[in-house]
Amino acid sequence: MLLTREEMTLHSAPPKFSVETDREAVLRALSHLFYGEVGAVKIGQWVTKAPDLEGMLEIVKQTRDETRHTGIFRRLLQRYGAEPSQAVVGDMGELHGVISHTWEDMLFESMVVGEGLALALIYFYHDVIADEPIRRGLRRVIRDEESHVEYGEQKIMAALRRTPQLKERLLALQEQLVQHYSGFITGQAPADAIEAMIAETPMAIIQMHMIRLQRMELL
Ligand SMILES: [Fe+2]
Ligand SMILES: [Fe+2]
Repeated sequence: MLLTREEMTLHSAPPKFSVETDREAVLRALSHLFYGEVGAVKIGQWVTKAPDLEGMLEIVKQTRDETRHTGIFRRLLQRYGAEPSQAVVGDMGELHGVISHTWEDMLFESMVVGEGLALALIYFYHDVIADEPIRRGLRRVIRDEESHVEYGEQKIMAALRRTPQLKERLLALQEQLVQHYSGFITGQAPADAIEAMIAETPMAIIQMHMIRLQRMELL
């Protein structure tokens, strides 16, 4: 991946939330993560639009990864006697609005921008939540998501070498996407202390995203 774990870290102090002391906030975080993964499974729709076998198999792999991630968060919720909260569903549907029209748009939208931004939040959840079962589950998810972002980065860089004109199109797309995502984070009142911390992160996350684009030679 073009950014290191350190470069994508939003919270470097010890984790301060746990199911025991902040049950509602931690369970809401797990619900957000669960529905985020449910939305991510929709990547599977690209299996019939992949330009070659290698791309098709990658989509199959990622769809399987995302499905496994829904299971991880569902089991964690069950472990703490909870179910995914319906309250966060409406928001997540909106988060996964699809703008992409071409394969390259999708690689860029879903893997580079979408999962790149999501990964910063997943690292954040890992770094603020103290419960070891949750941290362990998040580390499994993180390993997969890093590989999805890296795949998107590599494929887009190769596409740009072949077709330099692609650059303008992707830059226009990313402006739309960044507005969409930061609006999503700042557009709703934080429901708890974890969400209040997340509401302060968009600038830092967008900065990370810009460094990624620079390293991809898009900026
Ligand atoms: Fe995932
Ligand atoms: Fe992913």
